[in-house]
Amino acid sequence: MLEPRLTAAAILALLSVFELWSSPPVAESAIGVNWGTISLHRLNPSTVVDLLKENKIAKVKIFDTDPGVLRALMGSGIEVMVGIPNEMLAALSSSTTASDLWVRQNVSAYVGKGGANIRYIAVGNEPFLTSYSGQFQSYVVPALVNIQQSLAKLNLAGYIKLVVPCNADAYEASLPSQGAFRPELTQIMTQIVQFLNSNGSPFVVNIYPFLSLYGNSDFPQDYAFFGGTTHPVTDGANVYTNAFDGNFDTLVAALSKLGYGQMPIVVGEVGWPTDGALGANLTAARAFNQGLITHVLSNKGTPLRPGVPPMDIYLFSLLDEGAKSTLPGNFERHWGIFSFDGQAKYALNLGLGNRLLKNARNVEYLPSRWCVANPFRDLSDVANHMKLACSMADCTTLNYGGSCNGIGAKGNISYAFNSYYQLQMQNVQSCDFDGLGVVTFLDPSVGECRFLVGVTDTSSSSQSYKRWVIVWYWILWGIGVFLV
Ligand SMILES: *[C@@H]1O[C@H](CO)[C@@H](O)[C@H](O)[C@H]1NC(C)=O
Ligand SMILES: *[C@@H]1O[C@H](CO)[C@@H](O)[C@H](O)[C@H]1NC(C)=O
Ligand SMILES: *[C@@H]1O[C@H](CO)[C@@H](O)[C@H](O)[C@H]1NC(C)=O
Repeated sequence: MLEPRLTAAAILALLSVFELWSSPPVAESAIGVNWGTISLHRLNPSTVVDLLKENKIAKVKIFDTDPGVLRALMGSGIEVMVGIPNEMLAALSSSTTASDLWVRQNVSAYVGKGGANIRYIAVGNEPFLTSYSGQFQSYVVPALVNIQQSLAKLNLAGYIKLVVPCNADAYEASLPSQGAFRPELTQIMTQIVQFLNSNGSPFVVNIYPFLSLYGNSDFPQDYAFFGGTTHPVTDGANVYTNAFDGNFDTLVAALSKLGYGQMPIVVGEVGWPTDGALGANLTAARAFNQGLITHVLSNKGTPLRPGVPPMDIYLFSLLDEGAKSTLPGNFERHWGIFSFDGQAKYALNLGLGNRLLKNARNVEYLPSRWCVANPFRDLSDVANHMKLACSMADCTTLNYGGSCNGIGAKGNISYAFNSYYQLQMQNVQSCDFDGLGVVTFLDPSVGECRFLVGVTDTSSSSQSYKRWVIVWYWILWGIGVFLV
Protein backbone atom coordinates (compact mmCIF):
# COMPACT_ATOMS: atom_id res chain seq x y z
CA MET A 1 0.00 0.00 0.00
CA LEU A 2 2.94 2.32 0.53
CA GLU A 3 4.14 2.26 -3.05
CA PRO A 4 1.06 3.64 -4.84
CA ARG A 5 0.62 6.21 -2.13
CA LEU A 6 4.13 7.53 -2.63
CA THR A 7 3.62 7.57 -6.36
CA ALA A 8 0.40 9.51 -6.02
CA ALA A 9 2.13 11.94 -3.68
CA ALA A 10 4.99 12.42 -6.15
CA ILE A 11 2.59 13.05 -9.04
CA LEU A 12 0.63 15.50 -6.95
CA ALA A 13 3.77 17.32 -5.92
CA LEU A 14 4.68 17.67 -9.59
CA LEU A 15 1.18 18.79 -10.46
CA SER A 16 1.16 21.42 -7.76
CA VAL A 17 4.53 22.79 -8.92
CA PHE A 18 3.09 22.92 -12.41
CA GLU A 19 0.01 24.71 -11.13
CA LEU A 20 2.15 27.31 -9.43
CA TRP A 21 3.75 28.06 -12.76
CA SER A 22 0.69 28.05 -14.90
CA SER A 23 -1.64 30.14 -12.77
CA PRO A 24 -1.09 32.16 -9.63
CA PRO A 25 -3.20 30.69 -6.82
CA VAL A 26 -6.27 32.89 -6.72
CA ALA A 27 -8.12 31.85 -3.59
CA GLU A 28 -11.36 33.45 -2.56
CA SER A 29 -13.61 31.84 0.00
CA ALA A 30 -17.34 32.04 -0.24
CA ILE A 31 -19.59 32.21 2.81
CA GLY A 32 -22.63 29.95 2.82
CA VAL A 33 -25.03 28.70 5.49
CA ASN A 34 -26.50 25.45 6.76
CA TRP A 35 -30.28 25.38 6.59
CA GLY A 36 -31.62 22.71 8.93
CA THR A 37 -35.35 22.15 9.34
CA ILE A 38 -35.69 20.28 12.66
CA SER A 39 -37.87 23.09 13.89
CA LEU A 40 -40.97 23.38 16.07
CA HIS A 41 -42.16 26.44 14.17
CA ARG A 42 -41.22 26.07 10.54
CA LEU A 43 -41.06 29.11 8.34
CA ASN A 44 -42.45 28.79 4.86
CA PRO A 45 -39.46 27.65 2.71
CA SER A 46 -40.03 30.50 0.27
CA THR A 47 -39.74 32.97 3.18
CA VAL A 48 -36.37 31.41 3.99
CA VAL A 49 -35.21 31.57 0.38
CA ASP A 50 -36.15 35.26 0.32
CA LEU A 51 -34.14 35.68 3.53
CA LEU A 52 -31.11 34.10 1.82
CA LYS A 53 -31.51 36.38 -1.18
CA GLU A 54 -31.92 39.52 0.96
CA ASN A 55 -28.68 38.65 2.69
CA LYS A 56 -26.96 37.84 -0.63
CA ILE A 57 -26.20 34.32 0.57
CA ALA A 58 -25.49 32.33 -2.58
CA LYS A 59 -24.59 28.94 -1.11
CA VAL A 60 -26.72 26.79 1.13
CA LYS A 61 -26.28 23.34 2.62
CA ILE A 62 -29.27 21.23 3.58
CA PHE A 63 -29.29 17.87 5.34
CA ASP A 64 -31.74 15.98 3.18
CA THR A 65 -33.69 16.52 -0.02
CA ASP A 66 -36.86 18.03 1.42
CA PRO A 67 -39.17 18.59 -1.57
CA GLY A 68 -40.61 21.83 -0.12
CA VAL A 69 -37.13 23.27 0.41
CA LEU A 70 -35.82 22.21 -3.00
CA ARG A 71 -38.92 23.56 -4.75
CA ALA A 72 -38.49 26.89 -2.99
CA LEU A 73 -34.85 27.00 -4.13
CA MET A 74 -35.75 26.40 -7.77
CA GLY A 75 -34.96 29.35 -9.98
CA SER A 76 -33.10 31.16 -7.19
CA GLY A 77 -29.66 30.39 -8.59
CA ILE A 78 -28.48 29.64 -5.05
CA GLU A 79 -25.92 26.82 -5.01
CA VAL A 80 -27.17 23.87 -3.01
CA MET A 81 -25.45 21.04 -1.20
CA VAL A 82 -28.05 18.38 -0.50
CA GLY A 83 -27.50 15.55 1.95
CA ILE A 84 -28.09 11.84 2.26
CA PRO A 85 -28.93 10.89 5.86
CA ASN A 86 -26.61 8.23 7.33
CA GLU A 87 -29.55 5.86 7.75
CA MET A 88 -29.94 5.64 3.97
CA LEU A 89 -26.33 4.70 3.25
CA ALA A 90 -26.82 0.96 3.72
CA ALA A 91 -29.55 0.79 1.09
CA LEU A 92 -27.70 3.03 -1.36
CA SER A 93 -24.48 1.07 -0.97
CA SER A 94 -26.16 -2.22 -1.72
CA SER A 95 -27.72 -1.60 -5.11
CA THR A 96 -27.44 0.68 -8.10
CA THR A 97 -31.18 0.34 -8.57
CA ALA A 98 -31.58 2.12 -5.23
CA SER A 99 -29.01 4.80 -6.08
CA ASP A 100 -30.51 5.35 -9.54
CA LEU A 101 -33.91 5.83 -7.97
CA TRP A 102 -32.56 8.12 -5.27
CA VAL A 103 -30.78 10.34 -7.79
CA ARG A 104 -33.82 10.49 -10.05
CA GLN A 105 -36.32 11.21 -7.30
CA ASN A 106 -34.19 13.48 -5.13
CA VAL A 107 -31.79 15.23 -7.49
CA SER A 108 -32.49 15.10 -11.20
CA ALA A 109 -36.18 15.88 -10.62
CA TYR A 110 -35.13 19.35 -9.44
CA VAL A 111 -32.21 20.29 -11.70
CA GLY A 112 -32.16 21.77 -15.16
CA LYS A 113 -33.22 25.15 -16.51
CA GLY A 114 -35.13 27.09 -13.86
CA GLY A 115 -34.47 24.31 -11.38
CA ALA A 116 -32.52 24.03 -8.16
CA ASN A 117 -28.79 24.62 -8.60
CA ILE A 118 -27.63 21.44 -6.86
CA ARG A 119 -23.81 21.35 -6.97
CA TYR A 120 -22.92 18.91 -4.21
CA ILE A 121 -24.37 15.79 -2.64
CA ALA A 122 -23.16 15.05 0.88
CA VAL A 123 -23.04 11.27 1.17
CA GLY A 124 -23.81 10.82 4.86
CA ASN A 125 -23.32 13.42 7.55
CA GLU A 126 -20.31 12.87 9.80
CA PRO A 127 -20.65 9.11 9.20
CA PHE A 128 -17.39 8.38 11.07
CA LEU A 129 -18.37 10.19 14.24
CA THR A 130 -16.82 8.30 17.16
CA SER A 131 -20.17 8.02 18.91
CA TYR A 132 -21.61 6.03 15.96
CA SER A 133 -19.11 3.25 16.75
CA GLY A 134 -18.42 2.56 13.09
CA GLN A 135 -21.98 1.53 12.21
CA PHE A 136 -22.04 3.49 8.92
CA GLN A 137 -18.36 3.12 8.07
CA SER A 138 -18.48 0.28 5.58
CA TYR A 139 -21.32 1.81 3.54
CA VAL A 140 -19.72 5.12 2.64
CA VAL A 141 -17.39 4.15 -0.20
CA PRO A 142 -19.82 1.74 -1.92
CA ALA A 143 -22.54 4.41 -1.66
CA LEU A 144 -20.20 6.99 -3.21
CA VAL A 145 -19.42 4.62 -6.09
CA ASN A 146 -23.09 3.79 -6.72
CA ILE A 147 -24.31 7.36 -6.63
CA GLN A 148 -21.44 8.50 -8.83
CA GLN A 149 -22.44 6.01 -11.52
CA SER A 150 -26.10 7.03 -11.18
CA LEU A 151 -25.11 10.65 -11.74
CA ALA A 152 -22.91 9.67 -14.69
CA LYS A 153 -25.81 7.82 -16.35
CA LEU A 154 -27.79 11.06 -16.29
CA ASN A 155 -24.84 13.14 -17.46
CA LEU A 156 -24.77 15.00 -14.14
CA ALA A 157 -21.43 13.73 -12.81
CA GLY A 158 -19.46 16.67 -14.23
CA TYR A 159 -21.67 19.27 -12.55
CA ILE A 160 -22.69 17.69 -9.24
CA LYS A 161 -19.86 16.63 -6.92
CA LEU A 162 -20.04 14.04 -4.18
CA VAL A 163 -18.55 14.86 -0.78
CA VAL A 164 -18.43 13.25 2.67
CA PRO A 165 -18.70 15.82 5.49
CA CYS A 166 -16.50 14.63 8.35
CA ASN A 167 -16.42 15.74 11.93
CA ALA A 168 -13.06 16.96 13.13
CA ASP A 169 -12.94 13.88 15.37
CA ALA A 170 -11.91 11.90 12.26
CA TYR A 171 -8.34 13.11 12.87
CA GLU A 172 -6.23 13.84 15.89
CA ALA A 173 -2.84 15.14 17.01
CA SER A 174 -1.28 17.09 19.85
CA LEU A 175 0.21 19.51 17.30
CA PRO A 176 -1.22 20.46 13.90
CA SER A 177 1.82 19.28 11.91
CA GLN A 178 1.38 15.80 13.37
CA GLY A 179 -2.24 15.49 12.24
CA ALA A 180 -3.37 12.04 11.18
CA PHE A 181 -6.70 10.34 10.63
CA ARG A 182 -7.77 7.96 13.38
CA PRO A 183 -5.85 4.72 12.81
CA GLU A 184 -8.98 2.66 12.18
CA LEU A 185 -10.02 5.15 9.47
CA THR A 186 -6.71 5.23 7.55
CA GLN A 187 -7.75 2.75 4.91
CA ILE A 188 -11.22 4.12 4.32
CA MET A 189 -9.98 7.72 4.30
CA THR A 190 -7.36 6.78 1.72
CA GLN A 191 -10.11 5.40 -0.51
CA ILE A 192 -12.30 8.44 0.05
CA VAL A 193 -9.67 11.06 -0.70
CA GLN A 194 -8.64 9.13 -3.80
CA PHE A 195 -12.26 9.14 -4.88
CA LEU A 196 -12.69 12.85 -4.11
CA ASN A 197 -9.47 13.71 -5.90
CA SER A 198 -10.31 11.79 -9.05
CA ASN A 199 -13.69 13.54 -9.24
CA GLY A 200 -12.49 17.03 -8.43
CA SER A 201 -14.36 17.13 -5.10
CA PRO A 202 -13.17 18.94 -1.98
CA PHE A 203 -12.75 17.44 1.47
CA VAL A 204 -15.57 18.69 3.71
CA VAL A 205 -14.93 19.09 7.44
CA ASN A 206 -16.96 20.44 10.36
CA ILE A 207 -14.94 22.46 12.88
CA TYR A 208 -16.33 23.51 16.28
CA PRO A 209 -14.07 25.45 18.65
CA PHE A 210 -17.17 25.98 20.82
CA LEU A 211 -17.33 22.25 21.52
CA SER A 212 -13.66 22.21 22.49
CA LEU A 213 -14.36 24.96 24.97
CA TYR A 214 -17.60 23.39 26.18
CA GLY A 215 -16.09 19.95 26.64
CA ASN A 216 -12.87 21.00 28.34
CA SER A 217 -12.68 23.48 31.18
CA ASP A 218 -8.90 23.76 30.69
CA PHE A 219 -9.31 24.92 27.09
CA PRO A 220 -8.06 28.51 26.93
CA GLN A 221 -11.07 30.67 26.21
CA ASP A 222 -9.28 33.24 24.04
CA TYR A 223 -7.81 30.48 21.84
CA ALA A 224 -11.36 29.70 20.66
CA PHE A 225 -11.72 33.21 19.21
CA PHE A 226 -9.77 35.26 16.69
CA GLY A 227 -8.66 38.25 18.70
CA GLY A 228 -5.19 37.10 19.67
CA THR A 229 -4.40 34.82 22.57
CA THR A 230 -2.27 34.56 25.65
CA HIS A 231 -2.01 30.83 24.94
CA PRO A 232 -0.57 30.46 21.41
CA VAL A 233 0.33 26.95 20.25
CA THR A 234 3.88 26.73 18.94
CA ASP A 235 4.43 24.01 16.38
CA GLY A 236 8.00 24.14 15.09
CA ALA A 237 8.34 27.40 13.24
CA ASN A 238 4.56 27.90 13.18
CA VAL A 239 2.55 29.72 15.81
CA TYR A 240 -1.21 29.21 16.12
CA THR A 241 -3.31 31.88 17.78
CA ASN A 242 -6.74 30.33 17.23
CA ALA A 243 -8.31 26.90 17.44
CA PHE A 244 -9.82 27.12 13.97
CA ASP A 245 -6.44 27.40 12.20
CA GLY A 246 -4.93 24.76 14.44
CA ASN A 247 -7.74 22.36 13.65
CA PHE A 248 -7.70 23.16 9.93
CA ASP A 249 -3.95 22.52 9.68
CA THR A 250 -4.30 19.25 11.58
CA LEU A 251 -6.53 18.15 8.71
CA VAL A 252 -4.04 19.49 6.13
CA ALA A 253 -1.32 17.41 7.78
CA ALA A 254 -3.58 14.34 7.88
CA LEU A 255 -4.34 14.74 4.16
CA SER A 256 -0.63 15.23 3.42
CA LYS A 257 0.13 11.92 5.10
CA LEU A 258 -2.18 10.25 2.59
CA GLY A 259 -0.50 12.08 -0.27
CA TYR A 260 -3.22 14.70 -0.79
CA GLY A 261 -1.82 17.72 0.99
CA GLN A 262 -3.17 20.04 -1.71
CA MET A 263 -6.75 18.80 -1.68
CA PRO A 264 -9.21 21.72 -1.49
CA ILE A 265 -11.01 21.92 1.86
CA VAL A 266 -14.54 23.15 2.45
CA VAL A 267 -15.69 23.84 6.01
CA GLY A 268 -19.15 22.27 6.01
CA GLU A 269 -20.18 23.49 9.47
CA VAL A 270 -18.73 26.12 11.76
CA GLY A 271 -20.42 28.46 14.20
CA TRP A 272 -21.27 29.39 17.76
CA PRO A 273 -24.56 28.96 19.66
CA THR A 274 -26.25 31.81 21.54
CA ASP A 275 -28.09 30.05 24.35
CA GLY A 276 -28.32 26.94 26.47
CA ALA A 277 -24.79 26.91 27.94
CA LEU A 278 -22.47 29.24 29.82
CA GLY A 279 -20.21 30.08 26.86
CA ALA A 280 -23.15 30.32 24.47
CA ASN A 281 -24.36 33.89 24.26
CA LEU A 282 -24.92 36.67 21.75
CA THR A 283 -21.63 38.46 22.44
CA ALA A 284 -19.52 35.33 22.09
CA ALA A 285 -21.39 34.14 18.97
CA ARG A 286 -20.99 37.49 17.29
CA ALA A 287 -17.30 37.69 18.21
CA PHE A 288 -16.62 34.19 16.91
CA ASN A 289 -18.58 34.40 13.67
CA GLN A 290 -17.40 37.90 12.78
CA GLY A 291 -13.82 36.98 13.66
CA LEU A 292 -14.08 33.86 11.53
CA ILE A 293 -15.54 35.62 8.49
CA THR A 294 -13.01 38.44 8.64
CA HIS A 295 -10.18 35.94 9.07
CA VAL A 296 -11.27 33.75 6.18
CA LEU A 297 -12.00 36.64 3.82
CA SER A 298 -8.58 38.16 4.55
CA ASN A 299 -7.21 35.31 2.39
CA LYS A 300 -4.30 34.90 4.76
CA GLY A 301 -4.80 31.18 4.98
CA THR A 302 -3.09 29.14 7.68
CA PRO A 303 0.57 28.35 8.46
CA LEU A 304 0.39 25.12 6.41
CA ARG A 305 -1.59 26.79 3.63
CA PRO A 306 -0.48 30.40 3.50
CA GLY A 307 -2.63 32.47 1.17
CA VAL A 308 -5.07 29.61 0.62
CA PRO A 309 -8.17 29.94 2.82
CA PRO A 310 -10.84 27.21 2.81
CA MET A 311 -12.61 27.00 -0.53
CA ASP A 312 -16.00 27.70 1.07
CA ILE A 313 -17.32 27.85 4.61
CA TYR A 314 -20.91 27.11 5.60
CA LEU A 315 -21.97 28.77 8.83
CA PHE A 316 -23.85 26.65 11.29
CA SER A 317 -26.50 27.72 11.27
CA LEU A 318 -29.06 29.85 9.49
CA LEU A 319 -31.98 29.36 11.90
CA ASP A 320 -32.52 27.96 15.38
CA GLU A 321 -33.99 24.46 15.39
CA GLY A 322 -36.14 23.91 18.46
CA ALA A 323 -36.83 20.23 17.85
CA LYS A 324 -33.22 19.05 17.70
CA SER A 325 -32.01 16.46 20.18
CA THR A 326 -30.43 18.01 23.27
CA LEU A 327 -28.11 15.03 23.69
CA PRO A 328 -25.02 17.14 22.80
CA GLY A 329 -26.26 19.86 25.18
CA ASN A 330 -29.04 22.43 25.51
CA PHE A 331 -27.13 24.75 23.16
CA GLU A 332 -27.95 22.41 20.26
CA ARG A 333 -31.24 24.25 19.57
CA HIS A 334 -29.61 27.69 19.45
CA TRP A 335 -26.99 27.75 16.68
CA GLY A 336 -28.85 30.16 14.36
CA ILE A 337 -27.52 33.54 13.27
CA PHE A 338 -31.28 34.13 13.00
CA SER A 339 -33.86 33.00 15.53
CA PHE A 340 -36.46 30.42 14.44
CA ASP A 341 -38.58 33.19 12.92
CA GLY A 342 -35.83 34.66 10.76
CA GLN A 343 -34.97 37.64 12.96
CA ALA A 344 -31.27 38.53 13.19
CA LYS A 345 -29.85 37.83 16.65
CA TYR A 346 -26.88 40.14 16.44
CA ALA A 347 -24.95 42.45 14.13
CA LEU A 348 -23.01 40.38 11.62
CA ASN A 349 -21.32 41.37 8.39
CA LEU A 350 -21.24 38.24 6.23
CA GLY A 351 -18.85 39.94 3.82
CA LEU A 352 -21.36 39.46 1.02
CA GLY A 353 -22.36 43.09 0.50
CA ASN A 354 -24.69 43.98 3.38
CA ARG A 355 -23.15 45.54 6.46
CA LEU A 356 -25.73 43.91 8.72
CA LEU A 357 -28.03 40.91 8.59
CA LYS A 358 -31.49 41.62 7.19
CA ASN A 359 -34.52 40.10 8.87
CA ALA A 360 -37.00 37.78 7.21
CA ARG A 361 -39.94 39.63 5.74
CA ASN A 362 -43.63 38.77 5.65
CA VAL A 363 -43.38 36.29 8.50
CA GLU A 364 -46.93 35.46 9.58
CA TYR A 365 -47.16 35.31 13.35
CA LEU A 366 -49.97 34.02 15.49
CA PRO A 367 -51.76 36.81 17.43
CA SER A 368 -49.81 38.58 20.21
CA ARG A 369 -51.01 36.25 22.98
CA TRP A 370 -49.14 34.23 25.58
CA CYS A 371 -50.02 31.54 28.08
CA VAL A 372 -48.76 32.06 31.65
CA ALA A 373 -49.25 30.60 35.12
CA ASN A 374 -52.53 31.74 36.66
CA PRO A 375 -51.52 34.17 39.43
CA PHE A 376 -54.59 33.25 41.49
CA ARG A 377 -53.97 29.50 41.68
CA ASP A 378 -51.87 27.34 43.94
CA LEU A 379 -49.16 25.96 41.67
CA SER A 380 -47.82 23.19 43.89
CA ASP A 381 -49.22 20.46 41.59
CA VAL A 382 -47.70 21.79 38.41
CA ALA A 383 -44.72 19.42 38.02
CA ASN A 384 -46.36 16.93 35.64
CA HIS A 385 -47.82 19.68 33.45
CA MET A 386 -44.39 21.28 33.16
CA LYS A 387 -42.76 17.97 32.34
CA LEU A 388 -45.26 17.30 29.58
CA ALA A 389 -45.04 20.84 28.17
CA CYS A 390 -41.24 20.77 28.08
CA SER A 391 -41.06 17.27 26.64
CA MET A 392 -42.93 18.51 23.57
CA ALA A 393 -41.98 22.19 23.37
CA ASP A 394 -38.55 23.74 23.87
CA CYS A 395 -37.61 24.84 27.40
CA THR A 396 -33.83 24.66 27.02
CA THR A 397 -33.29 28.35 27.80
CA LEU A 398 -34.53 27.73 31.37
CA ASN A 399 -31.53 25.63 32.30
CA TYR A 400 -28.26 26.68 33.85
CA GLY A 401 -26.42 28.96 31.43
CA GLY A 402 -29.60 29.72 29.48
CA SER A 403 -31.10 33.17 28.85
CA CYS A 404 -34.19 32.40 30.97
CA ASN A 405 -32.42 30.70 33.87
CA GLY A 406 -32.99 33.51 36.34
CA ILE A 407 -36.73 34.11 35.93
CA GLY A 408 -37.83 32.33 39.11
CA ALA A 409 -40.13 29.38 39.81
CA LYS A 410 -43.31 31.04 38.56
CA GLY A 411 -41.46 32.38 35.52
CA ASN A 412 -40.33 28.83 34.75
CA ILE A 413 -43.91 27.59 34.80
CA SER A 414 -45.15 30.40 32.58
CA TYR A 415 -42.32 29.85 30.14
CA ALA A 416 -43.12 26.15 29.86
CA PHE A 417 -46.86 26.80 29.49
CA ASN A 418 -46.29 29.40 26.80
CA SER A 419 -43.85 27.29 24.79
CA TYR A 420 -46.43 24.50 24.71
CA TYR A 421 -49.32 26.85 23.89
CA GLN A 422 -47.46 28.34 20.93
CA LEU A 423 -46.50 24.86 19.73
CA GLN A 424 -50.24 24.01 19.80
CA MET A 425 -50.87 27.07 17.61
CA GLN A 426 -52.46 28.90 20.56
CA ASN A 427 -55.26 26.40 20.85
CA VAL A 428 -57.30 27.56 23.87
CA GLN A 429 -57.39 24.14 25.55
CA SER A 430 -53.60 23.90 25.38
CA CYS A 431 -53.37 26.73 27.94
CA ASP A 432 -55.67 25.04 30.41
CA PHE A 433 -53.31 22.83 32.46
CA ASP A 434 -56.19 21.95 34.84
CA GLY A 435 -56.96 25.62 35.31
CA LEU A 436 -53.38 26.55 36.18
CA GLY A 437 -52.78 28.40 32.91
CA VAL A 438 -54.25 31.65 31.66
CA VAL A 439 -53.95 33.54 28.36
CA THR A 440 -52.52 37.06 28.52
CA PHE A 441 -52.14 39.90 26.03
CA LEU A 442 -49.16 41.39 27.86
CA ASP A 443 -45.75 40.14 26.69
CA PRO A 444 -44.27 38.29 29.69
CA SER A 445 -40.69 38.47 28.33
CA VAL A 446 -38.14 39.57 30.93
CA GLY A 447 -34.81 41.07 29.89
CA GLU A 448 -32.94 38.69 27.60
CA CYS A 449 -35.55 36.00 28.19
CA ARG A 450 -37.96 36.04 25.30
CA PHE A 451 -41.41 34.42 25.49
CA LEU A 452 -42.04 33.50 21.89
CA VAL A 453 -45.10 33.90 19.70
CA GLY A 454 -45.44 31.12 17.13
CA VAL A 455 -45.58 31.51 13.38
CA THR A 456 -48.40 30.19 11.26
CA ASP A 457 -47.29 27.44 8.94
CA THR A 458 -48.14 28.80 5.55
CA SER A 459 -46.73 25.95 3.52
CA SER A 460 -48.73 25.43 0.37
CA SER A 461 -50.13 22.04 1.40
CA SER A 462 -51.83 23.34 4.53
CA GLN A 463 -52.98 26.40 2.58
CA SER A 464 -54.73 24.30 0.00
CA TYR A 465 -56.11 22.07 2.76
CA LYS A 466 -57.64 25.16 4.37
CA ARG A 467 -59.07 26.21 1.03
CA TRP A 468 -60.75 22.82 0.64
CA VAL A 469 -62.20 23.02 4.12
CA ILE A 470 -63.70 26.40 3.22
CA VAL A 471 -65.07 25.09 -0.07
CA TRP A 472 -66.68 22.11 1.68
CA TYR A 473 -68.07 24.39 4.32
CA TRP A 474 -69.81 26.47 1.67
CA ILE A 475 -71.09 23.42 -0.18
CA LEU A 476 -72.53 21.93 3.01
CA TRP A 477 -73.92 25.29 4.03
CA GLY A 478 -75.52 25.59 0.57
CA ILE A 479 -77.09 22.14 0.93
CA GLY A 480 -78.29 23.09 4.40
CA VAL A 481 -79.91 26.27 3.11
CA PHE A 482 -81.46 24.33 0.24
CA LEU A 483 -82.93 21.69 2.58
CA VAL A 484 -84.42 24.34 4.85
C1 LIG B 1 -35.39 10.67 -1.37
O1 LIG B 1 -34.88 11.17 -0.14
C2 LIG B 1 -35.75 11.03 0.98
C3 LIG B 1 -35.05 11.61 2.18
O2 LIG B 1 -34.35 12.78 1.94
C4 LIG B 1 -36.10 9.59 1.21
O3 LIG B 1 -37.05 9.48 2.23
C5 LIG B 1 -36.61 8.95 -0.07
O4 LIG B 1 -36.78 7.59 0.16
C6 LIG B 1 -35.62 9.19 -1.19
N1 LIG B 1 -36.08 8.55 -2.41
C7 LIG B 1 -35.53 7.42 -2.86
C8 LIG B 1 -36.12 6.87 -4.11
O5 LIG B 1 -34.60 6.86 -2.30
C1 LIG C 1 -20.43 34.87 26.89
O1 LIG C 1 -19.58 33.77 26.58
C2 LIG C 1 -18.22 34.02 26.75
C3 LIG C 1 -17.43 32.80 26.34
O2 LIG C 1 -17.95 32.09 25.31
C4 LIG C 1 -17.91 34.40 28.18
O3 LIG C 1 -16.56 34.75 28.30
C5 LIG C 1 -18.76 35.57 28.61
O4 LIG C 1 -18.58 35.81 29.98
C6 LIG C 1 -20.23 35.30 28.34
N1 LIG C 1 -20.98 36.50 28.59
C7 LIG C 1 -22.04 36.52 29.36
C8 LIG C 1 -22.72 37.83 29.51
O5 LIG C 1 -22.44 35.52 29.93
C1 LIG D 1 -36.27 27.03 36.80
O1 LIG D 1 -36.00 25.85 36.01
C2 LIG D 1 -34.62 25.56 35.81
C3 LIG D 1 -34.51 24.39 34.88
O2 LIG D 1 -35.21 23.29 35.32
C4 LIG D 1 -33.92 25.34 37.13
O3 LIG D 1 -32.55 25.16 36.93
C5 LIG D 1 -34.16 26.55 38.03
O4 LIG D 1 -33.61 26.31 39.30
C6 LIG D 1 -35.64 26.82 38.17
N1 LIG D 1 -35.83 28.03 38.98
C7 LIG D 1 -36.52 28.01 40.12
C8 LIG D 1 -36.54 29.28 40.92
O5 LIG D 1 -37.12 27.02 40.51
